[in-house]
Amino acid sequence: MQEHNRGQWGSNLGFLMAAVGSAVGLGNIWGFPYKMGKTGGFAFLIVYLALVLLVGIVVMLGELALGRSTGKSPIEAYGALKAKYKIVGVMAIISPFVILCFYCVLGGMVMRYMLGFLVSIFGADGFSGQGDGFFGYLLYDYKGMILFFIIFLVVNMGIIMGGVQSGIERFTKIAMPALAVCLVIIIVFVAMQPGAKGGYEFMFKPDFSVFSDPDIGFFGVLKTAAGQMFFSLSLGMGAMITYGSYLSKKESLQRNSLIIPIADTVIALMAGMMVMPACAAYGIDFGKGPGLLFASMQGVFLDGMGGTIGNVMGFLFYFLVFIAAITSSISLLEACSATIIDKQIAKGKAPRRKTAAGIFTLCIFILGLPIALDALGSGGALVKAPYELMGLEAGGAGYAMWNDCWLDFYDLIAEGILMPLGALLMSLIFGWVVGPKYIYDECEQSGHPFKFKPYFDVCFKVIVPIIMVVVLYAQITDFF
Ligand code: PFF
Repeated sequence: MQEHNRGQWGSNLGFLMAAVGSAVGLGNIWGFPYKMGKTGGFAFLIVYLALVLLVGIVVMLGELALGRSTGKSPIEAYGALKAKYKIVGVMAIISPFVILCFYCVLGGMVMRYMLGFLVSIFGADGFSGQGDGFFGYLLYDYKGMILFFIIFLVVNMGIIMGGVQSGIERFTKIAMPALAVCLVIIIVFVAMQPGAKGGYEFMFKPDFSVFSDPDIGFFGVLKTAAGQMFFSLSLGMGAMITYGSYLSKKESLQRNSLIIPIADTVIALMAGMMVMPACAAYGIDFGKGPGLLFASMQGVFLDGMGGTIGNVMGFLFYFLVFIAAITSSISLLEACSATIIDKQIAKGKAPRRKTAAGIFTLCIFILGLPIALDALGSGGALVKAPYELMGLEAGGAGYAMWNDCWLDFYDLIAEGILMPLGALLMSLIFGWVVGPKYIYDECEQSGHPFKFKPYFDVCFKVIVPIIMVVVLYAQITDFF
């Protein structure tokens, strides 16, 4: 009865597509290449892969199992373990909300590029005469930033209003395979460009010199890779708990919590293999920062390919980034909305999915405005930078400049602090208080015996907590 009210996945494939769709997003395509570009290429990649194995897969299993065993959204799911653990669920709701505020602004920018290439195919100038320099122009085109921010928000809200099966599942089942096909086409194209080899070397040729860079060092790489890993796998926030809560007991949690991180990592690697060689081929600095994707791809499509082919490839590319972004942002909004829906069900009221999604969307719009209006910290923007409002010094040295850009500031709160903190508390709860057996029992409900218990025992009890403490320490020292 309750399951009927909350909604449930139509099939395991539908669940997988939606979960992989949540994981694969701007984090993979926009975030992964630029973070790898800033923190040493190969060294970042190795640390990232180690984190996926030691932390990502383990936290994924824990979150899916918690969601499915309780059949509830994050706050109530943690509350079902013990009332005072609700606080971990509360954190898991704040993070997606904070992330949505910048995610939808970025999603809007992606839509703007998509439209730019689309109209260029038909002979119009889709980039307001700015060509390669469009990124810098767009940041200060506040009306455009807000308009596309709103369009992205409305698309996102519309899908969530559709509900679990008719909205999310139907959309992602088509979108995810389409995404994979688009990526392959662009990778092959970029590989054929002269000079592309430098990008593969940057990613795959052993080089740990970044560890001795005083501005970054091992801890800089570790915390960047850790934040990226949580963000990319959609962990440490309500998304996977919520998606797990709609999963039938018949399905294998172990298999799903391996497939999702593997698929996500493969797509991130593919994005790297698209952006890095493109940078090498067109002379763009790997360490350019958050504008890397937009600026480098503009060079590729407009200068490298040029003409109609460039416009068609450009459209295809941004279409795929848009798909990836929307299938992630719907999981973020779903995690928020499910909390209200569960509250209504608990009070015996009919769930009002549309109202919940609408209210959150409005709040995200208001809190996302500083991000749309500060030109991503490029200066001379419409709103004051975080450091000005807080009476602090202007942006720090090195590559961590959270205090002069609202996007970085929101990102630090969610990806830097709340997500690792949530994972730390979760691993302590499952490792030491409730015990990992809770998770293994839930996994075995599907009739598959749980393999690798010793590995997961050590990870839940020791490895995840230690890594999370180190990451949080590195983040907090950066904050001050
Ligand atoms: N994993 C998404 C990405 O890589 O873009 C972003 C995301 C979605 C983060 C859902 C967290 C989440 F709960």
